[in-house]
Amino acid sequence: MQNNLSTVGLARDHLAAGTKAALLMKLADDPEVLARAARDDCPIPTPHQRIGYYGQDHFGYWLSGLSDLRTMREHFSRHFDQIRGPILDFGASTGRAARHWPMEPEGFEVHACELTGRMVDWMEHHLAGRVVPHQTAVMPPLPFADDTFGVIHAFSVFSHIFDAEEAWLEELRRVARPGAAVALTIHNETTWALLPSLKFRIRDELEQNAEYRRIRAESDIMPDRLHLEQSGVSYAFYSNAHVNTVWSKYFKVLAIEDRAHTYQSMVILTPR
Ligand SMILES: C[S@@+](CC[C@H](N)C(=O)[O-])C[C@H]1O[C@@H](n2cnc3c(N)ncnc32)[C@H](O)[C@@H]1O
Repeated sequence: MQNNLSTVGLARDHLAAGTKAALLMKLADDPEVLARAARDDCPIPTPHQRIGYYGQDHFGYWLSGLSDLRTMREHFSRHFDQIRGPILDFGASTGRAARHWPMEPEGFEVHACELTGRMVDWMEHHLAGRVVPHQTAVMPPLPFADDTFGVIHAFSVFSHIFDAEEAWLEELRRVARPGAAVALTIHNETTWALLPSLKFRIRDELEQNAEYRRIRAESDIMPDRLHLEQSGVSYAFYSNAHVNTVWSKYFKVLAIEDRAHTYQSMVILTPR
């Protein structure tokens, strides 16, 4: 019987099955990646404990965290000479991305903040020694001193945060070291343009939303800042213009990389 600490075993148990995710197939053919999967001794959470990410495609789930980390590091490499730890994964779920940092050649220390207690328990139990988990709240503060982290990332977190947007930007700015590399993914106008053709749950959910349908019917242009609630899920949209004016109060906006996290765009920042 499954409980909140259940797993689906190790990445190496699922190597033979490969992945069904087209975007991850190149990574799944890389011998260095396969060797890394084979030596990863931390288990993979059940689909329930990873918010359904990758369904029954367990190796795809494992690869997706590494893929996001590599994409982000590639974008960082255009703006930062060197990446320094420690790392903060804000809104880490059960460590999909965080778990890969200590396996990088530099062996980074990584802290994972998560709101959902059962996910923090899962990380404490299964990622001990790999990731340092912290249960955090809907609003700041985070349990860290000023100027702590060399890297901060949040995949698919600001795409759901709306009311607390600036409070969290200010807090992440506080715990970022001078010169830190920061990557936050958002729904921006590129996401908005892609939405009608997306084969993801977000499209089906939003098509049931009257406000979304009304905005779409009036214009193709996404409002600068938009919040939609559907089936208990919060969807936040921020235009590039909004990021360039409001987020730049807290960070220098170095780039906004469209589709860097599937249909979400990645904002690359460094503290002001
Ligand atoms: C869509 S999931 C993405 C999880 C993970 N970043 C990934 O890419 O696999 C968003 C996560 O952010 C967490 N979250 C939202 N607001 C948070 C907050 N204020 N502090 C910590 N975690 C938060 C949610 O509980 C959820 O696990």
